[in-house]
Amino acid sequence: MRVPAAGLPAEVTIYEVGARDGLQNESTVVPVEVKAQFLDRLADAGLSVLEATSFVHPAWVPQLADAEQLLKILARRAGLDYPVLVPNDRGLDRALAAGVGHIAIFASATETFAKRNLNRTLDEQFAMFEPVVTRARAEGLRVRGYVSMCFGDPWEGPVEPAQVAAVARRLVDMGCGQLSLGDTIGTGTPGHVDAVLDACVVADVPVNQLAVHFHDTYGQALANTLAALRKGVTTVDASAGGLGGCPYAESATGNLATEDLVWMLDGLGVAHGVDLDALVTTSAWMAGQLGRPSPSRVVRALSG
Ligand code: HMG
Ligand code: MG
Repeated sequence: MRVPAAGLPAEVTIYEVGARDGLQNESTVVPVEVKAQFLDRLADAGLSVLEATSFVHPAWVPQLADAEQLLKILARRAGLDYPVLVPNDRGLDRALAAGVGHIAIFASATETFAKRNLNRTLDEQFAMFEPVVTRARAEGLRVRGYVSMCFGDPWEGPVEPAQVAAVARRLVDMGCGQLSLGDTIGTGTPGHVDAVLDACVVADVPVNQLAVHFHDTYGQALANTLAALRKGVTTVDASAGGLGGCPYAESATGNLATEDLVWMLDGLGVAHGVDLDALVTTSAWMAGQLGRPSPSRVVRALSG
C-alpha cells in the first residue's frame, strides 16, 4: 500500500551499480556477453543510470578486465547514462577510446584505504585524480567523485564526519559535479548519516550535489537511505539483487539491493521509473548465472 511520508523528495534517481560494484567482487569471471545482457535487462526494467564497468588496472580487478570489450558489444541506448570508473590518466585514455561520456573517480576518506585501493597516500590520490578530472571536463565528460570509507574503515575504525567533508570539498573544488558518499563496509547508522551530510553542508558541499552509496553489511542500508532522503539527497546508488563488495575492503559485502530500495520508494510514493517485476526477474536470472540466490529480501520474496 502506498502511504506517503512527510519530508521526502517527490522523485529519486537510482544510480545502478550492479554491473560494476555488483560484479567486481565475483571471483569467477562472468562472460562479457552475460554482462552486456545484464545491463540491457536493467535498462529494460527502467533504470536510466547504469554504471557499466571500470577502467582500472586489469590485474587489480580481473573481473572487469573486459571493459573495452563490454563497451564494444553493449548497445548503449540514447538518453541513458553509462558511467564508468576511472582512477588515473591511463584509465581515462581507455575510457575516451571507448566513447564514454561520464566517468567516476574514486577517492578514499582514509589514509589506509587510499593505500590499499589505489596504491597512493591520501594526498597522492588527489594528485592522481586532478589531471583526470581536468582533462575529462575539457573533453566534455561528466565527472562523479566517490568518497569511500565515509562511516568506518576496517583498519582505522570510525571516521570523523569532518574528515569526509574535507575530502568531499577537495573533489568539488577539483570539478566533480556529483559526489557519492560511500559506506564501503556498511557500518553506518541513520544518525551518523545525518552527521556526515551536515558536515558536508558546513564544508559548503551542497546537498543537491550529493549521492549516497550504502553497502548492507549490517542491514542498515535502507534505514540510512531514508535518513539521506529526509536530508534532501535525491540520487541513491543501488545494486540489482544486492550484489557487490570491494575486493580491497575485507568486510565489504553487497550494496543496497535496488529491489529493496524500489519497494520502499513505492510504498512511500516516491517516483523512480523502475518496473519492480522486470527488475526482480533480471536479478533472479543473474543469481542463476552466478550460481547462488540473490541476497535481496525483495528478490527472494517476489521470485519464490
Ligand atoms: P599502480 O600499481 O600504482 O599503477 O596502481 P601505476 O600508476 O604505478 O602503473 C603501473 C602499471 O600499470 C603501468 O604499466 C601502467 O600503465 C599500468 P607499465 O608502464 O608498468 O607497463 N596501469 C594501467 N593499465 C590499465 N589501466 C589502468 C592503469 N593504470 C596503470 N587504469 C591503480 C594504481 C590506481 C591503477 C590501481 O591501484 C588500481 O587499478 N586500483 C583500482 C582498485 C579498484 O578498482 N577498487 C574497486 C573500486 S573502488 C570501490 O569499489 C568503492 C566504491 O564502490 C564506493 C564505496 O563503496 O565506498 C566506488
Ligand atoms: Mg561500493
